[in-house]
Amino acid sequence: MYKSHTCGELTAKHLDQEVTLAGWVHRRRDHGGVTFIDLRDRFGMVQIVSNTDLYPEAHKIMEPVRSEWVIQAKGWVRRRPEGTFNPEMSTGEIEVEVREVKILNPAKTPPIYINKEEEVDEQVRLRYRYLDLRKERMRRNLVLRHQVVKFIRDYLDRNGFLEVETPILFKTTPEGARDYLVPSRVHPGEFYALPQSPQQLKQLLMVAGVERYFQIARCFRDEDQRGDRQPEFTQLDLEMSFVEREDVMRLTEDLFTRLVAEIVPGKRVLESPWPRFTYDEVMRRFGKDSPDIRFGMELIDITDLAAGSGFRVFEEIAESGGHVRGIKARGLGDYSRRQIEELIEFVAQYAAKGLAYIALTSAGEQRSSFAKYLPEETLTEIARRFEAESGDLLLFVAARPEVTFESLGRLREFLGDRLGLRDPEALGFCWVVDFPFVVWNEAEKRWDPSHHLFTSPMPEDAPLLDSEPGRARGQQYDMVLNGYEVGGGSIRIHNRELQARVFELIGLETEVAQERFGHILEAFEYGTPPHGGIASGIDRICMILAGETNIREVIAFPKNQNARDVMAGAPSRVEDEQLEELHIELDV
Ligand code: AMO
Repeated sequence: MYKSHTCGELTAKHLDQEVTLAGWVHRRRDHGGVTFIDLRDRFGMVQIVSNTDLYPEAHKIMEPVRSEWVIQAKGWVRRRPEGTFNPEMSTGEIEVEVREVKILNPAKTPPIYINKEEEVDEQVRLRYRYLDLRKERMRRNLVLRHQVVKFIRDYLDRNGFLEVETPILFKTTPEGARDYLVPSRVHPGEFYALPQSPQQLKQLLMVAGVERYFQIARCFRDEDQRGDRQPEFTQLDLEMSFVEREDVMRLTEDLFTRLVAEIVPGKRVLESPWPRFTYDEVMRRFGKDSPDIRFGMELIDITDLAAGSGFRVFEEIAESGGHVRGIKARGLGDYSRRQIEELIEFVAQYAAKGLAYIALTSAGEQRSSFAKYLPEETLTEIARRFEAESGDLLLFVAARPEVTFESLGRLREFLGDRLGLRDPEALGFCWVVDFPFVVWNEAEKRWDPSHHLFTSPMPEDAPLLDSEPGRARGQQYDMVLNGYEVGGGSIRIHNRELQARVFELIGLETEVAQERFGHILEAFEYGTPPHGGIASGIDRICMILAGETNIREVIAFPKNQNARDVMAGAPSRVEDEQLEELHIELDV
């Protein structure tokens, strides 16, 4: 046994006991013949003291010891002298008087400080991830993630779910991204695809009679990286038989409500039961299908006022089917030209060609990029709709609907941050339902499923698939938290004719459908129960609960923003022989 106790557990209860500890040297201070070391292990930290007068041999061994050396120390737990208590440490009342020390391993000077919170370039952190993970913040995030997953497993076990593992080497599972492919050595010219999700397999488990399935499932998607996306990420994937949309949503909501109460009791769930919005409503109000409902600053439509307003830019957009919408930033009415320029550049990233503004200064003046073109009564009506007052900054985008929504939706969140409106302690969960069943793909002139191929339309909208597919709604639900999509699911099609009709609608030819999904179509003919499910993004949920803004912070060994593992150096070249075995020739 290397240790009798962990560094974090010692308190006044252990006074005068002899203990053996082992861990890393967090910090070292010398005071002549006395050396203080904060000794750290995963469970906490404790001060150990060596005194040359008491134990000269131990003291001598301690001399060369530096930060991050691994040592073992044996000694007595003593109360710290009066006035030297450290209330910041759980062990701050005591120290360990060292009688024997053993150096288990010295350490090179680490390239990043473990004992100091400071900005370090992320590439350096990722390169030395094993050191970065020693830091308190990362340790806390690993613990949180463990607790979240454990809670989920226990909860679902109590509710009759079976955890079933599904293959990683599989066949293409379309979730809207590119596949990662794995060449087969045994079958030259053939490839496995890594699953973008276990979607088909969990549906097959329903055919198999599992009824309640879940998996903490790794998914692989080759798509552009963002702060909330990784090429491989983890879902809580679940599927249930004999359920309606309501059943899946109720279970999910109960699971996460209890999880939050137990794991992050300090956080406040904004609204319970979680509010529900239709897709149309969230787009209209927040410009985004994953709205942050922790603050207002909602979008306001003035397209009707723009038509015939006398301001050409607005008029043209309104006449060509575009939208003119705006938001009101309270308290930014005194923004300078330069500050507004910065906002214009911000929306330009989302293809908005401009940002019109009306600034109502705190001194009661009005500055505007376009008000002079508008008749007085239109301006009065705009002011009425926005409930505008001195000190307000009104910002408008006129563009195609998608651009208006996206640019203002993003600007709203950007300004919400700037104005401190996004309370980090609040959890704004909500559901978004009634998504369009299909969306028009202009480039390829066909309908694409808005969720995935297996999602069922709303029963009452099924006839629309023949007449007006664009108006049909899907039985889909998205779970949203603080502006992030943290989960999505649907009730599935369990009827072969309807599935064939959907393949036809999205232009998937019968042979192609057969080749890709023959296995599941065949399975559906052997008695398929009605079923549905959901998958929630574990990384995103942990990120938000941990108060982080990037999922890399809650993944032990993430890829960087170029999908590289900079620690191990992956992806990497392989030996020619390996390629030969796989019958692969490179063309790079
Ligand atoms: P979907 O594609 O919506 O649904 O994914 C479910 C949830 O997974 C998370 N997520 C990601 N997290 C990190 N990095 C990524 N690249 C990434 N992509 C998705 C999101 C998302 O809400 N099979 C369906 C679920 C179902 O219908 O049951 C599916 O995978 O939080």
